[in-house]
Amino acid sequence: MDKLVINGGNRLKGTLEISGSKNAALPIMAACLLADGPSTLRDVPDLADIRSMMELLSDLGVSVRRNGDNAMQLNVEDESCSHAQYDRVRKMRASICVLGPLLAKRKKARVSMPGGCAIGSRPVDLHLRGLRALGAEIDLEGGDIIASARKLTGANIFLGGPFGSTVLGTANVMMAACLAKGRTVIESAACEPEIENLAEYLVAMGAQIHGAGTPRVTIEGVEELRGVEHTVVPDRIEVGTYMIASALTNGDVTLKKVRLDHMMAVVDKLRDIGVVVESDGDDSATIASARRLEPTDVTTQPYPGFPTDLQAQIMTLLCLADGNSAITDKVFPDRFMHVAELMRMGANIRKEGPTTIVTGVKKLVGAPVMASDLRASAALVLAGLVAKGTTTVQRVYHIDRGYENIEDKLRGIGADITRVAE
Ligand code: EPZ
Repeated sequence: MDKLVINGGNRLKGTLEISGSKNAALPIMAACLLADGPSTLRDVPDLADIRSMMELLSDLGVSVRRNGDNAMQLNVEDESCSHAQYDRVRKMRASICVLGPLLAKRKKARVSMPGGCAIGSRPVDLHLRGLRALGAEIDLEGGDIIASARKLTGANIFLGGPFGSTVLGTANVMMAACLAKGRTVIESAACEPEIENLAEYLVAMGAQIHGAGTPRVTIEGVEELRGVEHTVVPDRIEVGTYMIASALTNGDVTLKKVRLDHMMAVVDKLRDIGVVVESDGDDSATIASARRLEPTDVTTQPYPGFPTDLQAQIMTLLCLADGNSAITDKVFPDRFMHVAELMRMGANIRKEGPTTIVTGVKKLVGAPVMASDLRASAALVLAGLVAKGTTTVQRVYHIDRGYENIEDKLRGIGADITRVAE
């Protein structure tokens, strides 16, 4: 297991290029199961989760090849296997997004039921409700979801749950509905840019989808889809993480390949805190910060609200603000594993029910800390960049799931960060 060793205090300065989005690429890769003929995907980041999806698709008869320049070729060669095994799903919950495509194209699917994880309980009831509404028969056997349907038929489906809509549930139902007979209307669909990007890929393949990126998505089923070329949207969570890195270190960092229109809630909060975010043109932004960070309140919500995937990172920033901030996660209310580790570095945080109160401190101090999940690890790396002394972030495999070359990218803009194999 590798660890990251960070000597804090360097001011970050320079230019850094953002990778394609992990959370867009994963369902898009799964969507290739619906197509006849090869697809080429561009800007697919080189990450552990992407490699897990490649292995799963390969189990399912897809030939998957990586080329240079982060391009990937996918082609379905054998449709005989429809089983996503426990060992694959256990490693990566996004494996659930092969369920809809398998059901629609191969008429059956057996997908291990995902369990909970470090960010809390993560049910899939909405995915199953949506697929049942399309006519699938679904049972649970030996911990696996067994789904079958001789034919799928369009339906009106409400996908709202207790914490808003569901991103991968919307992806699953939208993908299955593309090959269903007739019209499907998804109400309370997830509006995330990753869903819009998936819909763009499906439409290029021949699907008829309207309204993706809004709460009502309409899909007219078609007979078949064919493989095409498609480019994955930039990773808005990676953008937000590096924006916060620049803000924390009083830096001056320019990010390339950015969709600022996907970052409205984040940029709005950063500006409240006193961070300067300037657009330098179509796909580039520069982030600088005043020496004094203002406290603020942050509540995570489904898109276009502030993303839960940046909750831990903005907490690190607010640890150094001049006053009290309240952070509430309305998407994953238990996603606060980073709090105890940040406190080991001198942060002053207390949990009051579903909310954490962060009282700004003058400085954080380096310490050995343990990553518990992907975004929590990012928050600890950010804390290490600004802390006095040395921070060692253990269990780096979490960060390798979602941040491409994080230490190279940070070193490129002046951070003192090294990966050490244990
Ligand atoms: C996606 O997960 C992302 N993963 C997550 O990113 C992200 O945190 C999450 O969306 C929310 O933005 C990928 O895209 C691969 P949800 P997903 O279904 O789709 C509840 C990261 O760090 N819910 O939108 O699985 C659920 O418990 C990861 O990159 C139900 O109640 O999340 C949660 O409270 C972690 N029933 C809320 O909905 C369901 O059937 C939103 O979850 C499904 C979800």
